[in-house]
Amino acid sequence: MFIERVLSGMRPTGNLHLGHYHGVLKNWVQMQSQYECLFFVADWHALTTHYDTPHIIEQNVWDMVVDWLAAGVDPARTTLFIQSRVPEHAELHLLLSMITPLGWLERVPTYKDQQEKLSEKDLSTYGFLGYPLLQSADILIYRATQVPVGEDQVPHVEFTREIARRFNHIYGREPGFEEKAGAAVKKLGSKKSRLYSELRLRYQEQGDNDALQSAQSLLNEQQSLSHGDRERLFGYLEGSGKMILSEPRAMLTASSKMPGLDGQKMSKSYNNTISLREDEASVSKKIRTMPTDPARIRRSDPGDPGKCPVWPLHQVYSGEDTKQWVIKGCKSAGIGCIECKQPVIDAVLEEQRPMRERAQLYLDDPALVRNIIADGCEKARKLAAETMRDVREAMGLSYT
Ligand code: TRP
Ligand code: SF4
Repeated sequence: MFIERVLSGMRPTGNLHLGHYHGVLKNWVQMQSQYECLFFVADWHALTTHYDTPHIIEQNVWDMVVDWLAAGVDPARTTLFIQSRVPEHAELHLLLSMITPLGWLERVPTYKDQQEKLSEKDLSTYGFLGYPLLQSADILIYRATQVPVGEDQVPHVEFTREIARRFNHIYGREPGFEEKAGAAVKKLGSKKSRLYSELRLRYQEQGDNDALQSAQSLLNEQQSLSHGDRERLFGYLEGSGKMILSEPRAMLTASSKMPGLDGQKMSKSYNNTISLREDEASVSKKIRTMPTDPARIRRSDPGDPGKCPVWPLHQVYSGEDTKQWVIKGCKSAGIGCIECKQPVIDAVLEEQRPMRERAQLYLDDPALVRNIIADGCEKARKLAAETMRDVREAMGLSYT
């Protein structure tokens, strides 16, 4: 059984490029062998900012899933789904909205930042203000323990933790909690209940976080506990109420240093990208026509890699020997720029080859992708339904 559950989402923004690959997807691929992973297409999130261009979403959704698969995200090991196919996200979003102070949303840094950045759009909408809460619902509905995100999204995970805490505080109090928790401790069996009590005391009296973690993994290993007792025991460790929603941790993805074709960071808005599955001729052409050190007007003029946008690409793609060859050859005018670019072209093509091959499989048979997503949505809905059952019950909505 996995103790950690990783969840992350991506907006369907169109063709992914090598910046996404080096910044995010490689990381997803690495995590899929270590954790239970759920990755989803955040199509509702796209509507929070692009509500006036809905027609672009559909194609982007499928293209993006193919990009994920091309990058090596393995549908046999991960759950891939689309947010809007799991309507429970919307229900949790609505229910959480009841307890979300407006001030908390207004203070999320991306709120003002994005409004300023996307000033051509009218983003004084209810949906845009509530978008971090929708993200919280995405995370909390799967009881995710880890959320890989870039730096800009860390405040959203922090916000999610606060919402979970507030929810547990308001709805986690049940009559007779102490007694019920005590009874649940006994059900662990004498040895484990003693260990649990010791660890709980060590955490509560000395703030010993290791003790807290040990107690949590002890609980995670108990297969036979009922869900209610499990929640009680988790809640009892940290406070005096049931823990219905669990607080996730942000897993900071090192911000992508992937350089674009002009030396700036690779980004769609700078128009300096190479897409993940771009065809070979186009990749070669883009790199061959990249600007170089402006001092090298003629082949015989020496240059300085430090002033050349090709150099950061060598740092991503080239080994030590090649890099030495570039430095020496550039500074002495021993090599030409086209010659210098060739190893980068070769390395990018080499990196993309398996991606193009994997993608071809799915392009030839789009039903494969549809099936992967249908399976993923079904799995996701099952998990989401479990959480919603507890949430409805806690909020007094499970009438019989
Ligand atoms: N808000 C994220 C972004 O814009 C995407 C996202 C939506 C997400 N829900 C999420 C990321 C849940 C992690 C977890 O990039
Ligand atoms: Fe840039 Fe290479 Fe040309 Fe030097 S030789 S200017 S590093 S492309």
